[in-house]
Amino acid sequence: MPTLQVRIIRWKVTPSPFLNKEEILKDIILTGDRPTGRLHLGHYVGSLRNRVRMQEEANYDRMYVMIADSQALTDNFDNPGKIRENLIEVALDYLSVGLDPNKVTFFVQSQVEELTELTFYFLNLVSLSRLERNPTVKAEIKLRNFETSLPAGFIIYPVSQAADILLFDANIVPVGEDQEPMLEQAREIARSFNNIYGETFIEPKAVLPEEKIARRMPGIDGAAKMSKSLGNAIYLADDKKTLKKKVMSMYTDPDHINIDDPGKIEGNIVFTYLDVFAKDSHFERFLPEYENLDALKAHYKRGGLGDVKCKKFLIKVLEDELEPIRQRRAQYEKDLDSVFKILEEGTKKAREKGRSKIEEVKKAMGINYFEDKDLIKFLEEKYK
Ligand code: TRP
Repeated sequence: MPTLQVRIIRWKVTPSPFLNKEEILKDIILTGDRPTGRLHLGHYVGSLRNRVRMQEEANYDRMYVMIADSQALTDNFDNPGKIRENLIEVALDYLSVGLDPNKVTFFVQSQVEELTELTFYFLNLVSLSRLERNPTVKAEIKLRNFETSLPAGFIIYPVSQAADILLFDANIVPVGEDQEPMLEQAREIARSFNNIYGETFIEPKAVLPEEKIARRMPGIDGAAKMSKSLGNAIYLADDKKTLKKKVMSMYTDPDHINIDDPGKIEGNIVFTYLDVFAKDSHFERFLPEYENLDALKAHYKRGGLGDVKCKKFLIKVLEDELEPIRQRRAQYEKDLDSVFKILEEGTKKAREKGRSKIEEVKKAMGINYFEDKDLIKFLEEKYK
């Protein structure tokens, strides 16, 4: 008499038609952010800019951008109001940088129930000690003082993140380098699921920004990372006055006291930012006495060039990048109804995909009892 165990093994050798490699012509891109605050220049340089570029290259089948509110709740469970408010702020930031709802499917994590369902099945495939080894989560536990009382939901969030990615068959995940451990775990989970239940998931890969500097934008205080919690961020939604104030307060070279002193470029945040944003055309327009950034740096190093002049130039360069973003944001701010509609429509689309994938998953696991005629046949055989 056949046992169910045997059946599952047989399924393993029948790959799902979706996974036929020739059939995957184009990438499925998925990425997301926790809605815990407005997005800043670090997000912009590290990922948003990249996403807009990918959107324009149009070399994908589907591009999803998810607002990870459920994940944000894993360490903000006692402050849901913060998540509720920032959901729309993040959506506004997405639209303001030029992500286009006609090309990108925006959706809200908590509203796709299939994600929660998949997470529960994935949890069986991961050991607690493996979860405890994730270096990003380790650092976050320290940072949040979770050492003595660690919420179970928090330690397992990488499993939920694996579900975010795998439910949509995403193969490309553009993220910052701190997310690489999450992708690693997602690949392990995909592999483990495929081994046990049969080929169902693609192993996704992280795509990091090419330029090294874009991987970790420093804060205006010179700290290694721009971050909301450190209070050293320039936000996409900052107005002109705020931007100016922040740049004028930027960390430069503490030994560059008199204008005539030679200055240092390394660790000088003004120059770090100019490296990222300044183009030759900016010199033509705003600082024609220098041909390019190399010429400006040379003068600074030699001595005779003041910080204020460099900062004023940087303000103009940043304004050039941020003003169109601000304007687009202002338009959407006046039309919040349509922003919610965009999220709602995108979420609907994401759920359709989620539902069909979860059916595939349940079938692979043999828990699709009511659609499975084989199961009845098997039982009939057993009781014959
Ligand atoms: N963990 C990511 C962050 O903190 C957000 C996120 C949740 C995500 N799910 C994702 C990113 C899936 C990429 C893919 O920024």
